Amino acid sequence: MAIWSNDFHDAMSEAAYQFNQSIQVDDRLLDADLQGSMAHAKMLGAQGIIEEAEAEALYQELGQMREDYRDGKLAIDYEEEDVHSFIEAELTRRLGNTGKKVHTGRSRNDQVATALKIYVRDEIEVLCSLLEDAMLGFAKKALQHTESIMPGYTHLQRAQPITYGHYLMAYAEMLLRDYGRLQDVGKRIDLTMPLGAGALATSSFPLNRDLTTELLDFLTPSANSLDAVSDRDYSIEMLSALSILAMHLSRYAEETILWASQEFHFIHLKDSFSTGSSIMPQKKNADIHELMRGKTGRVYGDLVNVLTLMKGLPLAYNKDMQEEKEALFDAIDTMKMMVSLLPAMLEATIVDVDAMYAACGQGFLNATDCADYLAAKGMPFRDAYQITGNILQYCSEKNLTLEDLSLEDYKRYADDFEEDIFDAIDLKACVYRRNVLGGPAPERVEEHAQALCQALERS
Ligand code: ARG
Repeated sequence: MAIWSNDFHDAMSEAAYQFNQSIQVDDRLLDADLQGSMAHAKMLGAQGIIEEAEAEALYQELGQMREDYRDGKLAIDYEEEDVHSFIEAELTRRLGNTGKKVHTGRSRNDQVATALKIYVRDEIEVLCSLLEDAMLGFAKKALQHTESIMPGYTHLQRAQPITYGHYLMAYAEMLLRDYGRLQDVGKRIDLTMPLGAGALATSSFPLNRDLTTELLDFLTPSANSLDAVSDRDYSIEMLSALSILAMHLSRYAEETILWASQEFHFIHLKDSFSTGSSIMPQKKNADIHELMRGKTGRVYGDLVNVLTLMKGLPLAYNKDMQEEKEALFDAIDTMKMMVSLLPAMLEATIVDVDAMYAACGQGFLNATDCADYLAAKGMPFRDAYQITGNILQYCSEKNLTLEDLSLEDYKRYADDFEEDIFDAIDLKACVYRRNVLGGPAPERVEEHAQALCQALERS
């Protein structure tokens, strides 16, 4: 029987009741709702809205329910409409008439808004801690590869030499911004507390919203009750932050898939992170990386789902908003899984340092260094660029690399060339010389990765 059933309302059809139910999805809000309910009960007593003793009994029993839930001793009744109805029904089973008083001066609309905020901010903490482990994973792996030279790409064309460590730290930076974005969502969640907004227009009881705000550890009570019960911005912000995080992981996954292919063979995946084929005995597939890339689409879908369901809703609460939870929970679950896989995934990634280095031998990755060499001798860079282009044309006709040329060959193009051109175009030197802040030189990447490790180990 629904929490709202009364003489005014005839029984609902079974099919409609089931369609209306959300307990299968919102059962995970149980603990968060119990926290909100405890604060509400305490406030009702403090304000004399119900007897102190009754408020205390409600508070204690709700606390007991939290404990029972933690211990696996609270059986959720999945016949109930939603988790909020279940809590009141269970409380009434335990306390009789006193249990029925918990809903004085509140509505499920402000109840669900509050519980959802509490739940999301807890999940942000979990995700941030997983992200810390992932960033540490990237930084530690980067420290092992500060000298592993590989081609850096633009347009997926070999461009300039970098190191695998430099590459990995790019992802550490992305995750650091993802971490910051999640923290920002948490800060905005903490700012306003919806409980007391009631169904849409607060309550005729003298609620003390400052007290519940303090008890629930928010900064201020929300300033407008219509907004408070219909605000799901934080959920959309959370989904956006998760979508960006997923996009980053998907790019990483895509590169690893590419680099583990025979065509690149820069990377081998340990068997712990690859799968075989049911028909081709030789296959080692990067299924886990592929799923990471694939599940990104699903997280974007969750974001678009909630944006779409919210866009036409008149103020204040509408039942459409019940649907939002399924998308939000799906994105949170998916991203927790994906981020938690990263440290082991990195560990299972074996780098073929020789293959990476060998790939730098083709594609004139040191061409910029040849032009820079002439520019450093005083030639205008544009002229140096043109001359290097002419040299490349010659090399390409003769199927030579810049290293294959003799000093005489170089001199034919510009008198400025001396014996030191060969140091200038040495691949290793090209990387070591790029020790500008943020660059691939081993000392720079080492500094960057160490600083991140220290910051994370301190936190
Ligand atoms: N299960 C509902 C939800 O998640 C709770 C709020 C119901 N409120 C209402 N006015 N029907 O959105």
